[in-house]
Amino acid sequence: MRTAKRGVVAAVMALGLGLSGAAWSQAPSKADMQRGAEIMQKQMSMMTPELVEKAKALSPEIKQFLVKIALKHSRHSETLTLRQVMAEILADYQTVAAAIATDNGELASEAARRMANHRLPRGGMLPYLPLEQITNKDLAILPAMENIIEVGAVRLAEAAEKGDMGKAAQELGAITGGCVTCHAHFRGQPGTSPRLKK
Ligand code: HEC
Repeated sequence: MRTAKRGVVAAVMALGLGLSGAAWSQAPSKADMQRGAEIMQKQMSMMTPELVEKAKALSPEIKQFLVKIALKHSRHSETLTLRQVMAEILADYQTVAAAIATDNGELASEAARRMANHRLPRGGMLPYLPLEQITNKDLAILPAMENIIEVGAVRLAEAAEKGDMGKAAQELGAITGGCVTCHAHFRGQPGTSPRLKK
């Protein structure tokens, strides 16, 4: 076995990532696995020990899914928080809505593709979710969210490019449902004050 290959296999095994699994529609290339393992190791190096412990205990399916997302997104921020990334997603979402309403397919597709390839926050998504929700059960919702929002946004872009704004509007409705579902699951109420009586 060549050294490079042994390096990939070692990194992949250390993270508990299997080669086959539900997250991949087709087996990832060796180069992708290498890059995925590197990204995951870098993210883990930023996490506190208690989060690392929780992340390591996740199922191979969830870990593979997180690697797939890390590989799919080309923009990884070194500084931004999830909340800041969400503000960008909201800006793109509003642009899409305005573009659909005004029959501007070009703008709608551009903003929808940007939303599908939104930036990833520093350390990935896990650090920003409640620690007690870093479990297989709570994170099992994530693949459905990816499908509704990211795959849905690409479908929206394709419809908008063809000038089918009715279909684009339907996709936007489904995407909105994704925002609502995920927020109900993970988000809580932002900006509450400890200086108000309960
Ligand atoms: C995978 C789950 C998930 C999905 C899908 C999701 N969000 Fe979020 N969102 C969160 C979490 C978690 C927070 C809280 C982050 C924090 O406070 O650190 C958040 C916070 C936000 C915030 C920051 C302000 C606030 O009210 O909390 C905005 C804006 C936002 N989301 C917009 C959106 C929009 C628009 C969509 C749909 C296009 C969306 N989100 C989809 C998980 C999600």
